[in-house]
Amino acid sequence: MNFRIIIVLIASVMLIYSCHSTVDFKDEIDLKVDNLLCQMTLEEKIGQMNQYNGFWDVTGPVPSEENAQTKYEHIKKGWVGSMLNVRGAIKVRKMQSLAVDSSRLGIPMIFGFDVIHGHKTMSPIPLAESASWDLQAIEKSARIAAIEASAEGLNWTFAPMVDISRDARWGRVMEGAGEDTYLAARIGVARINGFQGDDLNSPNTIAACAKHFAGYGFAEAGMDYNTVDVGTTTLHNVIFPPFKAAIDEAKVKTIMNSFNIINGVPATANKWLQRDILKNKWGFEGFVISDWSSGEEMIDHGYAKDLEHVAELSAIGGSDMDMESHAYIKCLAKLVKAGKVEESKVDDAVRRILKVKFELGLFEDPYKYCDESRETELIYHPKHMAAALDMAKKSIVLLKNENQLLPLKKNKSKVAVIGALANDKDSPLGNWRMAADDNTAVSVLEGLKSYGVNYKYAEGAKLITGETAFSAKIKVNTSDKSGFQQAITLAKKSDVVIMVLGEHALHSGEGRSRSRLGLPGVQQELLEAVYKVNQNIVLVLMNGRPLAITWADEHIPAILETWHLGTQTGHAIAEVLYGAYNPSGKLPMTFPRHVGQVPIYYNQYRTGRPGPKTEVFWPHYIDSSEKPLYPFGYGLSYTQFEYSDMSVKVVDNTKVEVKVSVLNSGSVFGEEVVQLYLHDKVASVVRPVKELKGFEKISLKPNQSKEVVFVLTNKELGFYDGAGHFLVEPGEFEVMVGTNSESGLKDNFILTGF
Ligand code: BGC
Repeated sequence: MNFRIIIVLIASVMLIYSCHSTVDFKDEIDLKVDNLLCQMTLEEKIGQMNQYNGFWDVTGPVPSEENAQTKYEHIKKGWVGSMLNVRGAIKVRKMQSLAVDSSRLGIPMIFGFDVIHGHKTMSPIPLAESASWDLQAIEKSARIAAIEASAEGLNWTFAPMVDISRDARWGRVMEGAGEDTYLAARIGVARINGFQGDDLNSPNTIAACAKHFAGYGFAEAGMDYNTVDVGTTTLHNVIFPPFKAAIDEAKVKTIMNSFNIINGVPATANKWLQRDILKNKWGFEGFVISDWSSGEEMIDHGYAKDLEHVAELSAIGGSDMDMESHAYIKCLAKLVKAGKVEESKVDDAVRRILKVKFELGLFEDPYKYCDESRETELIYHPKHMAAALDMAKKSIVLLKNENQLLPLKKNKSKVAVIGALANDKDSPLGNWRMAADDNTAVSVLEGLKSYGVNYKYAEGAKLITGETAFSAKIKVNTSDKSGFQQAITLAKKSDVVIMVLGEHALHSGEGRSRSRLGLPGVQQELLEAVYKVNQNIVLVLMNGRPLAITWADEHIPAILETWHLGTQTGHAIAEVLYGAYNPSGKLPMTFPRHVGQVPIYYNQYRTGRPGPKTEVFWPHYIDSSEKPLYPFGYGLSYTQFEYSDMSVKVVDNTKVEVKVSVLNSGSVFGEEVVQLYLHDKVASVVRPVKELKGFEKISLKPNQSKEVVFVLTNKELGFYDGAGHFLVEPGEFEVMVGTNSESGLKDNFILTGF
């Protein structure tokens, strides 16, 4: 243990009576925190609330950033509580030693990073993983990400994103669990459990961060950073539950707030959100970090007049740590001294931050995450690769399979592969893969080859032109069709054509909203041109969001949604195309027919005109169906599942037991996600037409059947009113159990009281 830290700990214990002898300490960590706190100067406390970005190379001779030297000095003074974007065991150790060895109290920093879907070994993007509905696999994926990230010196991830995404135009739908609150809460909990593990003190677990609190996914028109305007009923019932579950069920250590306003007040300064709801009502004990410069952006919002005002509003509003606004470090001490911000608010924030650091074990050993041998041994470990492959296969959704075109039979026919994405080793890694090594995904072509498929390849058309850079807009090829003819000629000579089309990795992610949801560039034209000469097409979609592929659905016999599947992409796709793995994924977001339907989601509120009572005056479009192309929860299999024998029993008026039998009536082994939807028919707050309230993923051999039992309790039967009170009301409910949100067996039950 570092000498300086030993001194601090001894001093802490000695100060116990002098500082807080009257306080009834909850546990040992609280005691340590309080006693460290009372040795800290105001500036040192505020330092803990300050996070710096460290994208300069600490091992290099000259810091590349102009003000890097100032940042180093601040670290040495103990004015920096955390850094983001510093990774690598050696780099983190060097940076940590500045804080530990040079600052007065030697308080270690916490190192955060966006570990979103894998770290070096990339898992499918979070939306894709969510399509697996496989909580164990998702937890394992996060566990592996934590193992690799912690081996690189990191101890905190800014994940999972638990924002609800109803608008496919929003680029960040790729980062969440989709449109449904229940599913997103379950997946959020699984991810946090994976990151944080059973023991946060272990060197291979890291603190998680549920983000973005709150409402960020409701940016108007799906445009990132745009205004959010949601009612309190939606906040309490749709947006809040995944955060509450993260706290109650997974004990998430940190929460990130959001860029947007809620009811006219930016989240970063929103006392109602951060103090009244999060910390007081829900009892969240971890700390809140602002989003990147979300404090400073309050000036542009027209809510704060200058940086000092930002610091005041954020501190009072309950933001404990400032990411990249530098408002606290520059202005907070002055505000406290002037009596504008109570020091107790600062103390509360610092207590929360120090507590997480103690829980991570950073005070015992600030370098416990900086073990180069672990880094060498664990990054890209074969076990991680195997898990990434398993996760990738589970994330694939079969959207269409006319005449059982899939699975293909190996080397029985002449196969053409067309599309730039088939030969792409980078896009499949997806966006939000900051630590990934470029071009390390197994491409579709490589996957097919190693699976032993004989194919011929034609690119057809480039997807983008010029260089790709994360900091810049990508240029989509909208005119060059010079490769079409080669693709058409190849398709003519082939029995089956695998077309790999969709989005580049940089079409989705932060700041990557789209106003159209079709295939970008000339890909739709390419698809139609090939279709003219060969209709036996398997369309393999690669994308980070739902796409409006109505033409393809009408014409192409087989469609496979493969998202961005990460490192093992090509292997996973080959196994599914050729039937070594039977697809079992189900859509976590509705696919629209047309962008004009967006936001489209299955659990909409009931309206006063639910159906066509007259020809004109009901909710519909005059130029398109109001129905989705593929509904939430939808996904096919190479086998068939039959649902029967549904029964519903109300037990003691406190719980409802729903049973259903599912049979694999096809000829191959398969997995099915059995989904339960509930509809509260009359309530004091209008309820959605249906809501997912349970699911179970089962596996069945041919002819095997299984009874699935769901038990609904208060938790599933109740809802929140606009003031946030949880109500369970007697009355009639409809329950549906089935294979997706639009099809299943239905029954009714009545609750007479509780
Ligand atoms: C994003 C966050 C992310 C942060 C740090 C922000 O722009 O909104 O989700 O964690 O940057 O990279």
